[in-house]
Order: sequence, then structure tokens, then C-alpha cells
Amino acid sequence: MRDAILLAFSEDQRPASALASQLGLPCAEIALHRFPDGEICPRVPASAATVLIYRSFNQPNEKLLALLLAHDALTRDPNVQCMELIAPYLPYLRQDIAFHVGEPVSQAVLCRLLAERFGRIITVDPHLHRTADLGAAYPGTVWQVLPTQDFLADAIAADGTPPGLVIIGPDIESTPLVNRLATRLGCSFATFAKERAGDRQVDLVPPTGLDVADRPVLILDDICSTGGTMARLAEALRTAGARSIEAVITHALFDDAAAARMREAGIARIRSTDSIGHPSNAFPLAGPLAEAVVNPPRRGAP
Ligand code: R5P
Repeated sequence: MRDAILLAFSEDQRPASALASQLGLPCAEIALHRFPDGEICPRVPASAATVLIYRSFNQPNEKLLALLLAHDALTRDPNVQCMELIAPYLPYLRQDIAFHVGEPVSQAVLCRLLAERFGRIITVDPHLHRTADLGAAYPGTVWQVLPTQDFLADAIAADGTPPGLVIIGPDIESTPLVNRLATRLGCSFATFAKERAGDRQVDLVPPTGLDVADRPVLILDDICSTGGTMARLAEALRTAGARSIEAVITHALFDDAAAARMREAGIARIRSTDSIGHPSNAFPLAGPLAEAVVNPPRRGAP
């Protein structure tokens, strides 16, 4: 890419620099001034014709506002012709309908806000339930979704997959993901059915014929937040006789208390991509993200 720069806020500097170095681009920091009353004011550095902004959205509220303000600053820079967003983790996608009277459709608010401002939005394993295609639902930008299963399968296989491994998904929605990973690794898979009774309360129903007795198990999920899903799943798998349990997730949103809860439930190791900076990060996304940046989707491609 010629005449391009990657910009990132301070907390995203490490993965952003790794991505910039894969792309052979300069990487610069968007400084954030915090006024005594709590208001914020970003300051963007000297820019280029194409500006890529890297922003991962765990704890998203202030980060969103900072991004919108930085975007406004860049619209005032005569050099800038095109702005693209690399958001490995996109927040607010879960609320894709108003589940209760009086609630918003947060996904639509967030996606429209970003689609109006950026010429392309690259994201990783977006947490979508009823929205099949972000591009069809929120036109006006190019949505580029990077699925991680093939990349994770190669990384997991490089580590060595134990004989008899079973890949487990926590809910029906995870079936395509676990299927793809299991196919690539050449092992079997199964998915549970999940009922969520509250933010921290989930019920899981095992699939008929679940066969994990004395076998190693790898749980795959896109997000881990409270750790409730993982912990319940691990308990059910231990009851079913699993010999060992590990987990791989894309977006690590969980805190230390959730990590302890999952350990106590019997999960020996949790590994994540670095879509969110976290102690569990084991799979850096700089390589696949760089490929996505230089290979935008063809017009009309699904
Ligand atoms: C749900 O659809 C997701 O795939 C995750 O299972 C869920 O978001 C995990 O949340 P928590 O860690 O709070 O149970």
C-alpha cells in the first residue's frame, strides 16, 4: 500500500505495530488528552492518503467515543482520502434485536455509526446470531470478516493434536465453526444446546450420543466473558468422563475471577487470539489481518 499509515491508540500499540510491520507501513499513535472533568480529546499525528485505524473494542464505551472524535479530526486533514477501520473485536453485536420492550437494537446503532464513517471495516469472528451478512444489513461500507477457524486449526495442529481429540461447541450457533475446525484437524465434534437465563446463568443440554469418555476435549467458542458458559460446559464434560479439557477462543473478554472459575471447573488451559490484549493470548492475528488488508473482498463476492 502506498501513501498509507496505520494509527492506533496507546492500548492497541503492540498488535497494531505487529500488523504495520507485516504490511510494511508506518505506525503512529493517536494521543488522548484527558481533561480534569473526564472529557477526552484525541490528537491525530501527521497522516497519509489512506489511514488505517486499529482499534479493539473491549470495554468499548469510551473507546468508541475516542474513535469518533479521532475520525472527525482526520476529516479535517486535506491529505486523507480514505479511512479504514481494523477492529478485530467489534462490540454490541449481541443485541441484534430488542429482546425486551424499551431496549435498543445496539448492533444496528454501532454498525451504522461505523459504516457511515469508514470505507472498509475489517473484523474477526463477529458475534452474529440473526445477522447473516453485515454488508447486506448495514450497507455504505465494505465489511470484511476474517474467520479464524482455518488459521486456528493450523496453529493447533502445529502444536500437535492428541489422538481421540473431540472439538466441543457450547451452542447450536457454534456448529459451523466447530465443524470447520474439526474437519481441518481431522477429528470429531459435538455441540451442546444452550439456554441463557441471565447474564451469568446458562443451562447446557448435551447432544444425544456425546462420546467424550476418556478422551481429550477442546472447547471452541468465539467469546468468553463471564466464563459461565465455559465453566458449565467443563462441568458437563467432566461428568461425561472427558480425560482432559482445554479451550480456544477468539475474543478473550474475561477477567481473573472468571479465569479462576474456569480453572476450578477443570479447564487446564485457555488460549485466545490477540483480538483483545489478554494474558491468554497465544495466537497473534497480525499475519491473517495483514492478508485481509491487502486482499479486499471482490465486488459482488459473498
Ligand atoms: C454466546 O453465544 C457465545 O458464543 C459465548 O458462549 C458467550 O458469549 C460466553 O459468555 P460468558 O463467558 O459470559 O458465558
